[in-house]
Amino acid sequence: MTLRHNLVPFFLMLLLGITVGAGAQETPIQELGDEIFEDVNLSVNNNQSCATCHDDAWGSTGPDSIINAGGAVYEGSIPGEFGDRKPPETDYATLSPVLHLDKSGTWVGGQFWDGRATGEKLGWPAADQAQGPFLNPKEQALPDNACVVYRVSVSAYAALYEEVFGDNIFTITFPADTNALCADGQLVPLSMDNRAKVETEYDNIAIAIAEYEAGPEERSFSSKFDASLEGMYKLTKQERRGFALFQGKGKCKLCHSSSGKQAVFTDFTYDNLGQPPNPDNPALIEDPDFRDPGLGGFLRSRGEPEDVWRAELGKMKVPTLRNVGAKPNPTDVKAYGHNGYFKSLKGIVHFYNTRDVKPECVEPLTTATMEDAIAGGCWPAPEIAENVNREELGDLGLTDEEEDAIVAFLETLTDDFF
Ligand code: HEC
Ligand code: HEC
Repeated sequence: MTLRHNLVPFFLMLLLGITVGAGAQETPIQELGDEIFEDVNLSVNNNQSCATCHDDAWGSTGPDSIINAGGAVYEGSIPGEFGDRKPPETDYATLSPVLHLDKSGTWVGGQFWDGRATGEKLGWPAADQAQGPFLNPKEQALPDNACVVYRVSVSAYAALYEEVFGDNIFTITFPADTNALCADGQLVPLSMDNRAKVETEYDNIAIAIAEYEAGPEERSFSSKFDASLEGMYKLTKQERRGFALFQGKGKCKLCHSSSGKQAVFTDFTYDNLGQPPNPDNPALIEDPDFRDPGLGGFLRSRGEPEDVWRAELGKMKVPTLRNVGAKPNPTDVKAYGHNGYFKSLKGIVHFYNTRDVKPECVEPLTTATMEDAIAGGCWPAPEIAENVNREELGDLGLTDEEEDAIVAFLETLTDDFF
């Protein structure tokens, strides 16, 4: 990690005057990012925004119980196009540093389950990440970043954009048929000068989104847990017991860091939990050999030596646990883990507790769903057998009540309690 990469976000925050904390107002750039985040016109068929897959009421993840109960991956703007991973939550993810190797040789930082939005481009993984979905054929599927810039320049919030970034966006000369080209999946022909301006504005758009995700509405530290640290709420006996187990016998804090105020419940490192494949993942249905290589796959694709990427195969970024329990109704189903294998918090905690205690499932349960595996008293083999963490999980010796207490504690991490 270079010095520049560390400092850019810091200066950005100073310049743009970020305020964090409950009750703070959004700044103009955060408001702008919010508009962009929710603009369905920034997709090829004008039918999908970032919020389509990252819904606040669901802890900024996927808002459809039926999808979550099955493959857990969301269809893009183009019907029939699916990604192969579950949408993670976005809000606290903005705190992830630029991807780097720390002193102990551990990969830390970046965004996406596999870290491929490294932050090396814009100095902030959240901003690098925000340039991906608009152009991802399985998400918003626009053919050219000029389409995004063009549609922002003619949006209802164009005046707010000018207030934040000046009027350069309106000096770009776009062909008269730009909208039609974009809707038709074509590149937009532009002069070199106009192309350079598009690049600058596309960076600005990404920075506005990241600022929004990091803003006071999205990252509000306003859960029961935060209130309890401020002396404004007393955790119930069960919640307190759950927190003690989280920190102790359950070993959760070894990866989901929980010390101090404003803990984000992740250390932004990577691990292979030995999570089974999700049998309903469309990618697996299409190709029975599909396995998600995680960080190792990304490091391989960028040309790292074999000994480097092999050691990271199957590892996924430790997600924040803030808002992990957030959903509009208690009966709604959320999916957990990179492939959405787990359908309840109780289920994933039970897996941490018993992965190495129960036998591996045999036919006909080798590709069992979570519910069927639990009913059958077994766990299917890991999606990727290499690098499974056997030190920090798998046989925790928790009782059923202790599992429930941990779940009760996780439920206290939902924002907007105060
Ligand atoms: C079709 C659904 C879909 C849409 C639309 C979508 N996302 Fe995502 N998002 C995902 C999925 C799936 C992942 C995980 C992908 C991966 O890890 O490879 C993800 C990952 C992320 C992450 C990474 C979080 C972390 O902890 O690493 C952020 C931030 C994010 N999206 C923000 C956005 C923004 C901003 C937009 C709009 C520009 C957007 N998403 C549009 C599905 C979607
Ligand atoms: C060795 C590090 C490690 C430990 C210890 C650990 N976790 Fe995790 N946790 C992870 C990683 C990595 C993931 C993502 C795994 C994946 O998707 O393959 C994860 C995912 C989760 C998720 C799903 C979140 C989501 O948004 O999908 C929950 C909930 C969770 N952990 C809770 C816990 C609890 C509770 C404990 C303690 C009983 C615990 N974790 C212990 C690393 C860890």
